Amino acid sequence: MQVTLRIKRYNPERDREARWEEYQLEAEPTDRVLDLLNKVKWEVDGTLAYRRSCAHGICGSDAMVINGKARLACKTLVKDLRQPITVEPMYGFRVKKDLIVDFEGFFAAYRSIKPYLINDDPEPDRERLQSPEDRERFDDTTKCILCGCCTTSCPSFWANPEYVGPATIVNAHRFIFDSRDKGAAERLRILNARGGVWRCRTIFNCTEACPRGIEVTRAIQEVKRAILLGQR
Ligand code: SF4
Ligand code: F3S
Ligand code: FES
Repeated sequence: MQVTLRIKRYNPERDREARWEEYQLEAEPTDRVLDLLNKVKWEVDGTLAYRRSCAHGICGSDAMVINGKARLACKTLVKDLRQPITVEPMYGFRVKKDLIVDFEGFFAAYRSIKPYLINDDPEPDRERLQSPEDRERFDDTTKCILCGCCTTSCPSFWANPEYVGPATIVNAHRFIFDSRDKGAAERLRILNARGGVWRCRTIFNCTEACPRGIEVTRAIQEVKRAILLGQR
């Protein structure tokens, strides 16, 4: 089939502002948008810039706005999209080149909530045991691949760049509700501050956008409740 692909392009060394470029490509209905981008880069214009790695929905590096919605290019099939297919860089982030955005702030926010197990108790002889029920408590948020689809879909993030964003809260949730972890109070204090969970207005775009099916808004609500009740 013939596909019309429109890509929002920006080269900081040459362009004053972003511009749309259109490509006519031969593709299979089962091709992914990532295949189309590769075709442009490898056969038409080698300067096209975008991130990708695993090509199988695992690494989280090829999030972009496709036909107005944040998605992973490697998980979005041509047959599921109306034409022309439009591809833009993620909203709410500074564009570095073409589809590559500046993710420094995103990862700084992620690091700020200490996304690792905190427990200074003496190490047990074997592993730190946990019941299936306790493990289930944070199972959903372990699935995050840090793609940023949730954060780039959030109007509160667009309006307040200081908001840590849903992806950070999801990763805080993963440890706050882990019965083996001792850092919950510290993380809840960080998320109760300016730029934390209270910037979330329960808009739900994040949940709709998550390619891993994580109940993002629910996780944020659980963190809010833990702050209000002083318990997890
Ligand atoms: Fe991506 Fe979902 Fe994680 Fe957000 S919660 S960063 S959308 S995997
Ligand atoms: Fe934004 Fe999701 Fe909250 S879209 S406002 S983080 S529910
Ligand atoms: Fe890894 Fe798409 S390239 S998630």
